Parts: sequence; structure tokens; C-alpha cells
Amino acid sequence: MMTISLIWGVVVAVCCCLWLILGIRRRQIGEPPLENGLIPYVGCALQFGANPLEFLRKNQRKHGHVFTCKLMGKYVHFITNPLSFHKVLCHGKYFDWTKFHFTTSSKVFGHRSIDPSDGHTAENINQTFIKTLQGDALNALDKTMMENLQLVMRPPILSKSKTAAWMTEGMYSFCYRVMFEAGYLTLFGKDLTREDSQRALMLSNLDNFKQFDKIFPALVAGLPIHVFKAAHHAREKLAEDFKHENLRKRDHVSDLVSMRMVLNDQLSTFDDMEKAKTHLVVLWASQANTIPTTFWSLFQMMRNPEAMKAATEEVNKTLENAGQKISFDGDPICLNQMQLNDMPVLDSIIKESLRLSSASLNIRAAKEDFTLHVEDGSFNIRKDDFIAFYPPLMHLDPEIYQDPLTFKYDRYLDENGKAKTTFYSNGLKLKYYYMPFGSGATICPGRIFAVHEIKEFLILMLSYFELELVESQVKCPPLDQSRVGLGILPPLNDIEFKYKFKSL
Ligand code: HEM
Ligand SMILES: *[C@@H]1O[C@H](CO)[C@@H](O)[C@H](O)[C@H]1NC(C)=O
Ligand SMILES: *[C@@H]1O[C@H](CO)[C@@H](O)[C@H](O)[C@H]1NC(C)=O
Repeated sequence: MMTISLIWGVVVAVCCCLWLILGIRRRQIGEPPLENGLIPYVGCALQFGANPLEFLRKNQRKHGHVFTCKLMGKYVHFITNPLSFHKVLCHGKYFDWTKFHFTTSSKVFGHRSIDPSDGHTAENINQTFIKTLQGDALNALDKTMMENLQLVMRPPILSKSKTAAWMTEGMYSFCYRVMFEAGYLTLFGKDLTREDSQRALMLSNLDNFKQFDKIFPALVAGLPIHVFKAAHHAREKLAEDFKHENLRKRDHVSDLVSMRMVLNDQLSTFDDMEKAKTHLVVLWASQANTIPTTFWSLFQMMRNPEAMKAATEEVNKTLENAGQKISFDGDPICLNQMQLNDMPVLDSIIKESLRLSSASLNIRAAKEDFTLHVEDGSFNIRKDDFIAFYPPLMHLDPEIYQDPLTFKYDRYLDENGKAKTTFYSNGLKLKYYYMPFGSGATICPGRIFAVHEIKEFLILMLSYFELELVESQVKCPPLDQSRVGLGILPPLNDIEFKYKFKSL
């Protein structure tokens, strides 16, 4: 008996070794330099995960601007020269972006594939997003968001006595609750049947969202959600409210959500809970990156007296030109798209905050074997491999951005105080110098709205409140590296700040 299992053990071990040895890819002529890493299957994933920036810089020094890394059984070709980005994007016909995005989405949110070619839905979700998040559709979104922000931020009329007192709170937790509530109401409207318990419901949504978002990196990495009981429960609770029967009880649902409801009902074979989960995707996409960006923008602005001064002046001027009055009981402040777009100082503050905190990996799969022609040469790419940009390499490149780790509020302003768009690498003007929202066909469809809502938040903070850091010389909190690759990194620890309603 012993011997039989021993023999079997040896056979299995030999097979494994053979599989591992034969499974290791060898570099073929014309392919980029290859890093297989030391651990089978895992490849370089641990070193990459520990510090992607350092790992990629090291390989860039060793191999040049284009190289391949094995990461969790996948071969990823990193293109690290920003002068090559536009050339890569010209190869669009060889890229399949859906493969990575749609599988990730199913894994994380628990719906069947939303890829039309898998036959569960015929909705072109990209088109829905562009139609309802950009162009004229933005007017309604901007307006509703501004109203909802003021609903959340302005004091209830009755408790006027409160207006004089300083309040202390963690800045990240403040930004989290204000943006979450206002953003949620803006996309999904208000529940008319449960008016009196609205706040309690929102707090429980907020709590559930935080729990679910915390394990997001683990789900993307492939861990099953059943491992995380509480977070699993939280996800199902959030989705429950997005069942169509529940959404129909809500008033002021955005065009985005109401259009997706119709298309879900007409074009998909999803059950009620799966439809709900495709709405949860939208909630996550609209919040997960916006919240940390809001925090960094407010924090960096408040830490820099010059930034604070320039922003206050711009806000003052904008409100005056728009004939808007700040008051606690009068009409809420209202600014249109054009007025929001014409605020270069706030734009620069938000861009600079994103430059310093963005860590999303831009990734696309090769549909077939092809040759990639870029600035640094031509490279053969195999079907099912991935092509990736890691924008922080560019965002923190001292040649493109002098003194790259320093927040400079006016980095994206030219000498006339307008948006600066000229940045250089190797003496050449860059077409792509700023990519926190991704690039090409998969660029974030909500990027314009995202910047508008953060501007609205900053405008209202500066208008309604006196603001102070509890510790005026407070150190910048480190970035939470556990989310590297997934988007905007939140701060590792919160920062206390004080706010008080102005006496208007
Ligand atoms: C500062 C805030 C935001 C950042 C940094 C951000 C960034 C991104 C990035 C990097 C992607 C993936 C692009 C790619 O894979 O190449 C993405 C996708 C997406 N974003 Fe945003 N985003 C933000 C805010 C928003 C907001 C406010 C909305 C909507 C209201 C939104 C909606 C979406 C959607 C729907 C997708 C998925 C598109 C698709 O796969 O078809 N985002 N975003
Ligand atoms: C803008 O600043 C001027 C001068 O400091 C002040 O009189 C005015 O009330 C401010 N306007 C707004 C809208 O804050
Ligand atoms: C999404 O739609 C836009 C506008 O029609 C298009 O430029 C982009 O390539 C589309 N992206 C994908 C991934 O289909």
C-alpha cells in the first residue's frame, strides 16, 4: 500500500516538474526580452506586487523600454516609453479589451458575462456609458450632483446654533461619506417609500460599500468571495437595492441607470439579481476612484497656502461671474458645464493630485499573433498575451515632471494661467503625459463628470466652510499600496481636519 502511493507520488512529482519546465516560455527571435521570474506560474508577480514602480524601472534599465514579464501565468508586455504610447494605440485592431475587463467584472461582482459575444446580453455597454455620461447628458448629472452635495453638506435649517462650532473629523472619512452619499443619490435617485429612514439606509449602504471595496483587490486576484463572509453579505445587500423592482420605487434616477434598466430588461437573459449586479458595477466604478481623488485634492490644496489662495480666488471669481450667492437657506449654488470647465486652477490641483496617487495598470489582450511597431523597434506578440502601460512610470519620471514627488498646484498651468499641455521626454513633445483615466478605447467614460464632481465638492468646501488642518505641518500620508494596479490609491492613514460653517 505504502509503495503504491509512493510510486504515484513520484509519478505526479515528475509530471509536475516536466510541466513546469516545459511550461516555461523561451524567448523567440523578434520577441521582447523576457523575465520568467523564479517561481513557476507566479512568475514575477510577487516582486511586481511589492513595488511595481521599482520593479519596472529595474527591468527598464536592464532590458530597455519594451520587455515581457510573466505574471500569474500570463505574459505581459510592458511598454514603458511614453513616446511610444500613441503608436501602441494604433494597433487597436489586434486588441481585445473586453476579455480582461469583462472577466474581471464577472469575478468581482458575480454576474454572468456581460460580453455580448457570450450571448447573455446584447447591450453595448460602452455605448450606454458614453451616451449617458458625456456631452449634453452631463448637464443633468452636474446639476443633480451639485444639489445633492449641498443637501449633504449644508446644515439642516433648524440647527442654526450648530453653525458656529468647529467640528473635527478624519478628512478621508469626511470625503468618503459626502461623495458617496451625493454620488449614490445622483446616479440612483431617492427612495420615496422610505423617506424617513433615508439617512440610516445611506449609512448602511456606505458601510456595505466600504466592506466590499476592501476585499476588491483579493477578488481581482482570483480569491472566491465565499472566503469573505461579511463582505459577501455586504455585496448582496448593496445589489438588493438595485433590483429593478426596488429601483422603480426611486425618484430622479439618472439617465445612465434608467437606460441600463431598459436595456437589461430588453436585451439580456440575466435574472433579477444579476441585473442588479450590473448596476453595482456602475456604483463601484463611479465611487472607488473618485473618493480617494477627492481626498487628495482637498488635502493637497489645504496643505499648500498658495494653492488654497489661488483656488479661493478662482472660486470667488467664478461664483461672482455666474451671479451665485452663498447662503445656507437660500437657493443652492448652481454652475453649468461651461462655468465648471473654465476653472484652470482647480483643474491643475485635481490633475496634480491624480498624478501623485494614480496606480492603475492599463491592459489589453492580443487577439492574434502580430508585430507591434513602436518608437523603440518592432516586437512579435503572441495571441492571448497582454500589452500594458503603467502610467506612474511616466507620472513620476523626473525628466517629464521635475521634482516628481512634490505637489505643485500650478504644474498644469501655463504662464497665462491656462491649462498647460506641453510636456517633454527626450526633448520631444509628448502626446500622452497624463493617464490616470486610462487610454484609447477603454479610457474612463466618466472622466469628465469625475472632474466636475470633485470641482463642485471643492467649490462648496471653500464657500461654506472655514477649513483648518488639526496639525498644520502634518506629513503627507503614504499611499495604500495594497490597491496597486487597480486605480487611485487611498491614504494609508487618515488626517484630522477641522471645519466650521462660515458666518454668512
Ligand atoms: C477620479 C475618478 C476616476 C478615475 C481615476 C477613473 C479611472 C478609470 C479607469 C482607469 C478605468 C479603466 C480604463 C481602462 O481599463 O483602460 C475606468 C473605467 C470606468 N469608469 Fe472611471 N474613473 C473615475 C471616475 C469615474 C466616474 C465618476 C464614473 C461614472 C459615473 C466612472 C465610470 C467608469 C466606467 C463605467 C468604467 C468602465 C468602462 C468600461 O469598462 O466600459 N469613472 N475609470
Ligand atoms: C469675493 O471676494 C470679494 C473681495 O474679497 C468679496 O467682497 C466678495 O464677497 C467675494 N465673493 C464671493 C462670491 O465670495
Ligand atoms: C467605445 O465607444 C467609443 C465612441 O463610440 C469608441 O471610440 C471606443 O473605441 C469604444 N470602445 C470600445 C472598447 O468599444
